[in-house]
Amino acid sequence: MAEDQLRADVGRIKWFHRIDLGRGIVTPGDDDTPAKLATLGFPDDLGGKTVLDIGAWDGFFSFEAERRGASRVLATDSFCWGGPGWGTKAGFDLARKALGSRVEDKEIDVLDISPETVGMHDVVLFLGVLYHMRHPLLALEKLFSVTGEMAIVETGVDLNFYWQPAMAFYPGSEAAGDPTNWWGPNAAAVAAMLKDVGFRTVKLHYRLSIPRSLARSARQTMVQRRLFQIGRVVYHAWR
Ligand SMILES: C[S@@+](CC[C@H](N)C(=O)[O-])C[C@H]1O[C@@H](n2cnc3c(N)ncnc32)[C@H](O)[C@@H]1O
Repeated sequence: MAEDQLRADVGRIKWFHRIDLGRGIVTPGDDDTPAKLATLGFPDDLGGKTVLDIGAWDGFFSFEAERRGASRVLATDSFCWGGPGWGTKAGFDLARKALGSRVEDKEIDVLDISPETVGMHDVVLFLGVLYHMRHPLLALEKLFSVTGEMAIVETGVDLNFYWQPAMAFYPGSEAAGDPTNWWGPNAAAVAAMLKDVGFRTVKLHYRLSIPRSLARSARQTMVQRRLFQIGRVVYHAWR
């Protein structure tokens, strides 16, 4: 693909991820995706593993799994790829072509995920999706049903200073003005739900620092006029 053509095509798309396409071209995503990658504890070597990326959007993490040696990667999404979402599938399709990637894709809702629809996968990524789920436990049951070895779950959290498992409910668009943000579980609730759906070993890998959590919470509290105690966590969960 010619460099000028690629630059022009990249410029026509609204990107979420910052994907290095080579030749000095990085997609201008809103999300600082390389910084997020650094928090995940993404296995360095995925040699021989199959990977499922649920809610892949532009596909950064799917392409990264392939780069780290995964034998097969399946990227799935629905809200952004075919639904009313914040973006489209154009970014994923262009990045896959530009990278010469063999990542497979399937447009499917989280709640339709099962061994029959997507198969079983050694490693399953569930990044930035849990709080968009109207039925979070049901979504985690779907995640567990297709996880062969481990899942990496990255999510926004709330009620940070409450130690018992608990979830904040966002009935309107009060969480970041986004009506698709339904629930803010605290870290204890994320761990408890992962265990409840069947994962035997659940470990907290990353938690956003307290100063950064406080800064985000203060901003949201002022804008939305409701008390937020938000942050981000990453859990690793083994079957
Ligand atoms: C915040 S983005 C996260 C994208 C990517 N996983 C990441 O961490 O950068 C949430 C993604 O979940 C997808 N999503 C939301 N609801 C979904 C649903 N019910 N079924 C499938 N995908 C969904 C959206 O389309 C979007 O791509």
